[in-house]
Amino acid sequence: MTQALVIRGGTVVNADREQLADVLCVDGRIVAVGERAAELAPAGAQSLDASGQYVLPGGIDPHTHMQLPFMGTVTMDDFFTGTAAGLAGGTTSIIDFVIPDPQEPIMEAYRKWRGWAEKSAADYSFHVAITWWSEQVRADMGTLVQEEGVNSFKHFMAYKNAIMCDDETLVNSFKRALELGAMPTVHAENGELVYLLQQEVAKMGITGPEGHPLSRPPMVEAEAANRAIAIADVLGVPIYVVHVSCMESADAIARARARGQRVYGEVLAGHLLVDDSVYRDPDFATAAAHVMSPPFRPKAHQEALWRGLQSGQLHTTATDHCTFCAAQKAAGKENFAKIPNGTGGVEERMAAIWDGGVNTGRLTPSEFVAITSANAAKLFNIYPRKGFIGEGADADLVLWDPAGTKTFSAKTQHSKGDFNIFEGRTVRGIPSHTISQGRVVFANGELRAEQGKGRYIKRPAFGVNFDAVQKRAQDLAPSAVAR
Ligand code: URP
Ligand code: ZN
Ligand code: ZN
Ligand code: ZN
Repeated sequence: MTQALVIRGGTVVNADREQLADVLCVDGRIVAVGERAAELAPAGAQSLDASGQYVLPGGIDPHTHMQLPFMGTVTMDDFFTGTAAGLAGGTTSIIDFVIPDPQEPIMEAYRKWRGWAEKSAADYSFHVAITWWSEQVRADMGTLVQEEGVNSFKHFMAYKNAIMCDDETLVNSFKRALELGAMPTVHAENGELVYLLQQEVAKMGITGPEGHPLSRPPMVEAEAANRAIAIADVLGVPIYVVHVSCMESADAIARARARGQRVYGEVLAGHLLVDDSVYRDPDFATAAAHVMSPPFRPKAHQEALWRGLQSGQLHTTATDHCTFCAAQKAAGKENFAKIPNGTGGVEERMAAIWDGGVNTGRLTPSEFVAITSANAAKLFNIYPRKGFIGEGADADLVLWDPAGTKTFSAKTQHSKGDFNIFEGRTVRGIPSHTISQGRVVFANGELRAEQGKGRYIKRPAFGVNFDAVQKRAQDLAPSAVAR
């Protein structure tokens, strides 16, 4: 039986233009976009009136951690509750992370995460973290790329004595990623410096959450970003820096791009809108709830991040959705270094960024689409299946009501976390309907997410950058002198 949905009279926004058009979806795919697309709808098609609204590609959050075992505990949101929260906020796909323990076989970790993710309500994919190195890891990277549709690998440069990778692992893994046509990504913080500063700060008698940003200042992030970018430059591999939080690392990316390097930067909704004053909250639970890495920064950094997105020097937005509740955060009551790192946001990202970006004129609606879906789809090679409204694309859409308002609160969020870093913020511009695989899964505040409806999305290797990277390497290849 065919399932058809027609969305009438909205302003369809893609990363390259806006147009007044109807959108016809049949069996999970977009089959027509245009002024007369509705006329092609089969009898009995469901119809949504989008007049006065935008129709946007469903958001892609390229950085989430659902059901993550981390710092001795496991996040509150699993793949069902986390993706359901995303759907309520207009995000129809996530890219989460497989994070093997050091020495854990990579393929075992991958299968474990694939099992956990089966309950997802929205489409999902995985970056795989390289946390240690061996010939087996090198071989497994090949299997993941060639058989499992993984085209990006994550490297934690922080979290010493846990998942941090040293330069040897970085270099080996980046080189292997290049061979395989996969994108290396980094969490850029110098883990050695963080480790030292955590102890120095504690010695000063600072044991509360206010010590967290003191142990991870911007230069700690900038050092790692510069190092990863330099390694990528020497090896000739593109690189993607996750959660760029400060102007120093945004500058490192901009400088490398100006030198001709293919470097990409991701910004979290939280880093755009929340500043470091939260760590001085007299209430431990409130301050600890904001502990995530890199930490929230003084306000001047936020403006730099917005400018990076507007100018195209930063490319994607994400959340790093990683929810720990107050009882879990309390593990660090006596020592901020033991507070599980992570904050939520998968449900709020789209509206928070629309409100802070489009309503202020920092971003056009098309630029909003670029940084909330299209760019991530391109960089991780699922474009135009995702991040695009056009014939053949997946019917993952949001009807966006630019006049609708909402006040964010932990009391009303769908995420199972007990805290909301945007608590009390009223935004204008919210999803009225979310459509996933052609099905209305959120309508005017009512969530109809279904466990297990999400699909694993394979991402092919050798995405947009790799042709150019290979040609550049050939063009610049050194030669020996014949004597
Ligand atoms: O604090 C954070 N960001 N927790 C999740 C793990 C990571 O570093 O991305
Ligand atoms: Zn990280
Ligand atoms: Zn993360
Ligand atoms: Zn409706």
